[in-house]
Amino acid sequence: MLNCSMQYRKFSKSNLTVSEIGFGTWSMGGMWGACDDAAATEALNTGLDCGITFFDTAYVYGDGHSETLIGNVVRKRKMRDQVFIATKVPPKNEQWPAKMGSDVREIFPASWIREMTETSLKNLQTDFLDLQQLHVWAPNWQGQGDWLEEVQKLKQEGKVRYFGISINDHQPDTALELVASGLIDSVQVIFNIFDQSPVENLLPLCEKHKVSVIARVPFDEGSLTGALTPTMQFPKRDWRKHYFSGSRLEETCARVEKLKEFLDADAPTLPDLALKFCLSFPAVTTVIPGMRKKTHVLSCAKVSEMKALSSKTLFDLKTHAWLRSFYPSWEEDGL
Ligand SMILES: NC(=O)c1ccc[n+]([C@@H]2O[C@H](COP(=O)([O-])OP(=O)(O)OC[C@H]3O[C@@H](n4cnc5c(N)ncnc54)[C@H](OP(=O)(O)O)[C@@H]3O)[C@@H](O)[C@H]2O)c1
Repeated sequence: MLNCSMQYRKFSKSNLTVSEIGFGTWSMGGMWGACDDAAATEALNTGLDCGITFFDTAYVYGDGHSETLIGNVVRKRKMRDQVFIATKVPPKNEQWPAKMGSDVREIFPASWIREMTETSLKNLQTDFLDLQQLHVWAPNWQGQGDWLEEVQKLKQEGKVRYFGISINDHQPDTALELVASGLIDSVQVIFNIFDQSPVENLLPLCEKHKVSVIARVPFDEGSLTGALTPTMQFPKRDWRKHYFSGSRLEETCARVEKLKEFLDADAPTLPDLALKFCLSFPAVTTVIPGMRKKTHVLSCAKVSEMKALSSKTLFDLKTHAWLRSFYPSWEEDGL
């Protein structure tokens, strides 16, 4: 073990705890430019050494590639019982985001949930998933179709321990009814200094119903780390060419620059500030920065040792919220 004092938080209504710094693995799938499996494997091993126990993946991250990398590392180290692996069932119609009013029977039929769960189990080389999530969600799906019955069967069979949803980008309130229903154990939501919208309704409701919150995209796809520059070029096959296209990168970098006034002994760097922002809300169970490099894992894990941001800092950061949608419609943009 490395010298990291990782803190752990309770998952949902269980007695189980997971590391408050989790590990996001989308970029290991190959849509973020070339994927270096050796570096990604080293990063995963470093995560385990730092006490990270929560790993977030999805079948769609490289058609099982990210799942396979995690499965390889965990099997080799014989650490299956010490980690919590979350994956996701992709929408059968391959549409991101989910369209409001769409028919869940075409998107998450029972047979698809089972088939994708079995596929993920194979990729992850395990008999059970700690958390299975629907990769998209539309509120009209509650009470529609047979997805819930299939999830319950998978739970009874021991193939899935907990179940949750990943909420459409920037639409936290679309999960409120489902959270209040008691049918799910977790929600995964975009939560960062720019998109603070979950604070208003989603976080308090999750706290009330003991539904775990998995804070995704804490660095706004990298901008909140301060590592991006206005004139930089993204490599081939990096979907962020779209996300930060046109004048977006320049505008984003200018906004990130202004956050430097918040750096102090409690949060000395921008990545520290961005992660600590998420963790300063007790409703958040784990924050999942996407990481492919050992150095990034080490610096993210260290944030767990730092104290929460003060209420004054959180108050002042509210003025830096910036709601916009840079995400492509994956289907229409052919990404
Ligand atoms: N719909 C969904 O369910 C959904 C959508 C998006 C994301 N997610 C999940 O959320 C996770 C996190 O989101 P994300 O990966 O999209 O974006 P993110 O966490 O906001 O940003 C990732 C970027 O930050 C960089 N980084 C990480 N740690 C750093 C550090 N300490 N210093 C400087 N740079 C650092 C990474 O670099 P390197 O890659 O070079 O290490 C990468 O470029 C994903 O990996 C995935 O598991 C889920």
